[in-house]
Amino acid sequence: MKILITGASGNVGRYVVEALINMGESVVAAGTNVEKLKDIFENRVEVVKFDFEDEKTFDNALKGVNRVFLMRPPHLGKPEDIYPFVDSMKSHSIELVSFLSLMGVEKNPIPPHHKIEKYIEKLGIPYAHIRPGFFMQNLSGIHSVEIKEKNEIFIPAGNSKTSFIDAADIGLAIAALLHQPEKYKNTAHTITGPEALDYYEVANILSSVTGKKIVYKKPSFLRYRSYYINKRGLDKNYVNVTVALYFMTRMGTAKKVTNGFYELTGRKPRTFYDFARDNIDAFL
Ligand SMILES: NC(=O)c1ccc[n+]([C@@H]2O[C@H](COP(=O)([O-])OP(=O)(O)OC[C@H]3O[C@@H](n4cnc5c(N)ncnc54)[C@H](OP(=O)(O)O)[C@@H]3O)[C@@H](O)[C@H]2O)c1
Repeated sequence: MKILITGASGNVGRYVVEALINMGESVVAAGTNVEKLKDIFENRVEVVKFDFEDEKTFDNALKGVNRVFLMRPPHLGKPEDIYPFVDSMKSHSIELVSFLSLMGVEKNPIPPHHKIEKYIEKLGIPYAHIRPGFFMQNLSGIHSVEIKEKNEIFIPAGNSKTSFIDAADIGLAIAALLHQPEKYKNTAHTITGPEALDYYEVANILSSVTGKKIVYKKPSFLRYRSYYINKRGLDKNYVNVTVALYFMTRMGTAKKVTNGFYELTGRKPRTFYDFARDNIDAFL
């Protein structure tokens, strides 16, 4: 039987696919843009057209599938956007769904992940939630524009600390869960990087790796929101969710360091220094 990977072209999904291929699993990479998936994975996996907003795509995507990696695309801000597909997984008798959730949501009902976890559990689908800290790829991806162009980190996280994790490590941990569905049935795992850093420390690491003087700007929520919506032109729903997440971060919810990644994979998680060095082009 096959494993369906939603968001297979995304930060985490692409690493879930690679890790499962290495484990010898049959994988179906899913997304709205099939051509993009073919470019990324060439002929190494089956690809399928799948859209959370189009129920007609669900049955075909779930054909011959008994396990699913489920992620919520960032622009789908309402948990209800994901429910129709969860209903479909139930009717297809999926044996394990690993949902890409978020550290701390078991105690925090505000992020959409909280309700999605609860909905999966309510339907009785065997689950293995993965609750990672913030991705290192936020710095090399969405926030790299200001780092490259202005030598600034423009994130409204105050003086808080974050236990950043590499999306490649998250992908490996998810693959470990999906590879052993019986073992991990009805479990939840909080995984983080090896240390909690504030954004001044992140700026120092990026400065030492790139040789540029990179500074942390520490904007207010209002300045950040207005800049990302009006100047960067990003989706309002997406920006609003990130404001809520950085608000939580300031409350200290992103700083916990756990042993979860080691427990699932037997490996140590990657440090931010090593990540920055290996992805230096994203910051120059
Ligand atoms: N960033 C963080 O620090 C962090 C921390 C913890 C949890 N998370 C959670 O991680 C999730 C994001 O994961 P990611 O960063 O791997 O994603 P991502 O890189 O933003 O990629 C989004 C993926 O969603 C797919 N997609 C977009 N619209 C779709 C639709 N209508 N139907 C089906 N697929 C669609 C895209 O593929 P196509 O273009 O092919 O459709 C793409 O593969 C979010 O739920 C976020 O809250 C993020």
